[in-house]
Amino acid sequence: MKNNTKIQLGLNGPLVSKLGLGCMRMSSIWGGPTPDEAESIATIREALDRGINFLNTGDFYGAGHNEMLVGKSIKGRRDDAFISVKFGAIFHNGQWLGMDLRPIAIKNFINFSLTRLGIETIDLYQPSRMDNSVPVEDIIGTVADLVKEGKVRHIGVSEITAEQLRKANSIHPISALEIGYSLAERQIENELLPTAKELGIATVAFANTAEGLLTGDMKAPLPENDYRNHFSRFKGENLINNLEKVEVLKQLASNKGYTPTQIAIAWVKEQGEHIMPLVSMSRRSRLPENIAAMDIEFTQEEMTTLNTTFAIGAILGGTYLQR
Ligand SMILES: NC(=O)c1ccc[n+]([C@@H]2O[C@H](COP(=O)([O-])OP(=O)(O)OC[C@H]3O[C@@H](n4cnc5c(N)ncnc54)[C@H](OP(=O)(O)O)[C@@H]3O)[C@@H](O)[C@H]2O)c1
Repeated sequence: MKNNTKIQLGLNGPLVSKLGLGCMRMSSIWGGPTPDEAESIATIREALDRGINFLNTGDFYGAGHNEMLVGKSIKGRRDDAFISVKFGAIFHNGQWLGMDLRPIAIKNFINFSLTRLGIETIDLYQPSRMDNSVPVEDIIGTVADLVKEGKVRHIGVSEITAEQLRKANSIHPISALEIGYSLAERQIENELLPTAKELGIATVAFANTAEGLLTGDMKAPLPENDYRNHFSRFKGENLINNLEKVEVLKQLASNKGYTPTQIAIAWVKEQGEHIMPLVSMSRRSRLPENIAAMDIEFTQEEMTTLNTTFAIGAILGGTYLQR
């Protein structure tokens, strides 16, 4: 990573790597098999060696498995890593049941996370969604208490509205907004992204490949047992339309000598100094390709092609990111 190697989280906040490592897919999320643990740990360690220090996990990823995995990976090198943790989502047997962000629950969650990670302070702690039954003041106020206690360094939020973001930031400075953002998912450009920028809040952008759509490897129809069949974006005519757009991405990538995934990641990082691509990588072989994406530059013409082909509304159907 030669260019844009660091990003600042929040006004006067910490500098972390501009490319983040998402650890979610190193655990079983929807009840499927757990990926190769040794390879996952080796991937995290190699990412740290290569200067990717922003690691993203969640206490519900694999019911705590993911935090334990991250904990094992950073053992003996705590200072090399910046640990970002989401909390509050309640799962049972791989099914999402809702959110629990009552102050009493948050104070319980944090201690389990610290133990599983084997650390004393979480660098960035964030509710993974808002909980409509608990006022934003109480949610952020409780995490702010954890900052005072020394259990949390910085506060983040995830998948919230612009209005909620303003509210949260008025209670305690918010360092980062974690949000799904890609060529295929650009609605946040209307309000949320400008709000985060205005408030000096970094955007940690996940799902850069849009559930694999933008890797260029997807073919219609998907295999019957593919979890993406649950999402309208990957069904019937929608998928045919969407893969036509991906053909443009593939052609542009090929002309530049990169992979579609690299272009998809590079497009995200090009959206601003305050935006971090947060990419899932469960194997070491992904690292060189995705790190190289951070050095890609675009001509005006290439940007226009991408922005026009993937204009808001061009990709049909949704995923679990319905806003
Ligand atoms: N806040 C939230 O609501 C939320 C929701 C979802 C995710 N997240 C966070 O964001 C991170 C990223 O999100 P994501 O997993 O949904 O999206 P993603 O980064 O687009 O990853 C999707 C898939 O792309 C694959 N991939 C990575 N590099 C590739 C390459 N060069 N070529 C081909 N395929 C490649 C990964 O495979 P491998 O795993 O096989 O390497 C992964 O399975 C997660 O790990 C998690 O930490 C947050």
